[in-house]
Amino acid sequence: MDKFIITGGTALQGEIPTSGSKNSALPALAAALLTDEPVTLHRVPHVRDIRTMQRLLVDIGSKVEVDHSAVRLHTPAIVCPEAPYELVKTMRASSLVLGPLVARCGRARVSLPGGCAIGARPINFHIFGLERLGARINQAHGYIEAEAPEGLQGATVHFDRITVTGTEDLMMAAVLARGETMLRNAAREPEVKDLADLLVKMGAKIEGAGTSNIRIQGVERLHGAEHTIIPDRIEAGTFLIAGAITGGDLTITECNPEHIGALVSKVQQAGAEVTQPDTATLRVRGGGLRSVDMTTEEYPGFATDLQAHYMALMTQADGIAIILETIFENRFMHAQELARMGAKIRLDGKQAIVAGPSLLTGAGVIASDLRASASLVLAALAARGETVIDRVYHIDRGYEKIETKLARAGAKIRRVE
Ligand code: EPZ
Repeated sequence: MDKFIITGGTALQGEIPTSGSKNSALPALAAALLTDEPVTLHRVPHVRDIRTMQRLLVDIGSKVEVDHSAVRLHTPAIVCPEAPYELVKTMRASSLVLGPLVARCGRARVSLPGGCAIGARPINFHIFGLERLGARINQAHGYIEAEAPEGLQGATVHFDRITVTGTEDLMMAAVLARGETMLRNAAREPEVKDLADLLVKMGAKIEGAGTSNIRIQGVERLHGAEHTIIPDRIEAGTFLIAGAITGGDLTITECNPEHIGALVSKVQQAGAEVTQPDTATLRVRGGGLRSVDMTTEEYPGFATDLQAHYMALMTQADGIAIILETIFENRFMHAQELARMGAKIRLDGKQAIVAGPSLLTGAGVIASDLRASASLVLAALAARGETVIDRVYHIDRGYEKIETKLARAGAKIRRVE
């Protein structure tokens, strides 16, 4: 198992480019199942979750060709409409094939995801939505079996709670359903909009993606298309905090600043200087930081996927910051590891109370999930001495060459086996 060894204390300087979005590329790959013509995606990041999704698609019947950051998918026929437990337990986003499979071939068998490091994360809203579209669902032996031999029928689906992949899954199911589907209380995340843009290029009729109400007019078939994935807003946000926490002067290029408006505003309130030299670039200059409270929310609010990183930043800010996590019930695993490095954090249910600034010192810590691990990297960059982060395979799920990118900006970080 790989580890990162990081010696902190260097202010990051220079430029770091952003990769394509993992959470946009995952549904886009699944969307290729909706047509028997080739779909080419550009700017697909080289991360482990993407490789897992590609493996799943190959088992289902897709031919997958990878050329640098371009991925060409061709699914002449669905050979096996199944997502097995072995894959779903390593990546919950595998359930994104449920909607496309039922839409394309009238049946799917997808493993239930089971427990997760950050919360319960059921997929009951995906199932409820498919039932509304006329699918018969049976749950047995840890699997969901969905059937719609006569095809799906458009309907109104009102999500009790905003769900990102639930919205994406249902959108992919509805594009080939008969008649009109309305998704209400839909997720407004940029990744949902990006998926809709791809589906429209494939011939789908979708209005309102990016708002809470998405209207889909089903069509008989979709065709091939070519699409470039949006920049990864969580990766861009990670680098923004890396610049602020090290008191550096860092320029993050090839990003979409609009997508991380909530983070930029918090980092500015905390005292760092953030400017936007052009539409795809952010520059951050760190300085004396002060504590600012934060609550995670669905987009366009502050992303839960950046909560751990923000907590690391607040350990270096003057005062008390209250961080409220509203999306997942167990997403504070990083707090104990940050405490091992000297952070003063008290957990109280959905709240973390961070007192700063504390002197962080290098220590041995363990990565528990993708974003928690990134927060440990950030803390290590600000800490005195050497930090060893174990189980960095979690980081490899969603960050493309993070150590190379950070090292280019002066970070003393290396990977050891
Ligand atoms: C997506 O997960 C992202 N994953 C997550 O990113 C992200 O943290 C999350 O959205 C929230 O922004 C991908 O896009 C692949 P949800 P998703 O359904 O869709 C509850 C990362 O680090 N819920 O929006 O699975 C759920 O338990 C990952 O890159 C139900 O109760 O999240 C949670 O509390 C981690 N029933 C809330 O809704 C359901 O059927 C929001 O979850 C679905 C969700």
